[in-house]
Amino acid sequence: MSVYASTHPLVQHKVSLLRDAQISVKSFRELTKELATLLAIEATASLKVEAKPLTCWSGTISTPMLAEKQPTLVPILRAGLGMLDGTLAVLPCAKVSVVGLKRNDDSVKLDANGKVDIAIESYYQNIISDVSERKAIIIDPMLATGGSAIACINMLKASGCTDICALFLVAAPEGIEALTESHPDVDIFVAAIDEKLNDQGYILPGLGDAGDKIFGTL
Ligand code: URA
Repeated sequence: MSVYASTHPLVQHKVSLLRDAQISVKSFRELTKELATLLAIEATASLKVEAKPLTCWSGTISTPMLAEKQPTLVPILRAGLGMLDGTLAVLPCAKVSVVGLKRNDDSVKLDANGKVDIAIESYYQNIISDVSERKAIIIDPMLATGGSAIACINMLKASGCTDICALFLVAAPEGIEALTESHPDVDIFVAAIDEKLNDQGYILPGLGDAGDKIFGTL
């Protein structure tokens, strides 16, 4: 697995704005969307193209086009929906596979190694039927313990997908480590890598609860 932490100045600026404790729902949504677009550009830079024939105004030419089917976007409900429009801006024809996962807040505990352990519950799955022929791009604002991302990747692999990457706005080192151990073949693209998790599994300094901020349910 490779971890790509964006060095784009706009990405760094926009993540900083997201951290403002006084941010409005509108601004949080807009920045999340803009960051998703910027990360999607980075994550799709390695898509393969091949020369294909095209009839243009001056005749038939051989011109580079995507070699394979468009990736499928995989928002993890609910916060991942906040990144959907931003990624669709780059991949407007992408099919969307949806995975519903939620953390069981009553299950939060520290394991034998002092790591935060949170049970993840799956409540919805709608993965496109030809996912084995596409790259899957998981979108979720926060990579905390890694539990949701790992569960989502397990579902995609069980459905036959072999080419997966994931986009996050903010990642904790603990989540990156867990994901690397479970799925070393999955590349991740992040806007920022933060310091650590607190004992409730929230990222520090982080953004708070990204789902609540996107949906205005604080
Ligand atoms: N989910 C969030 O929304 N924020 C965190 O810090 C961790 C998980």
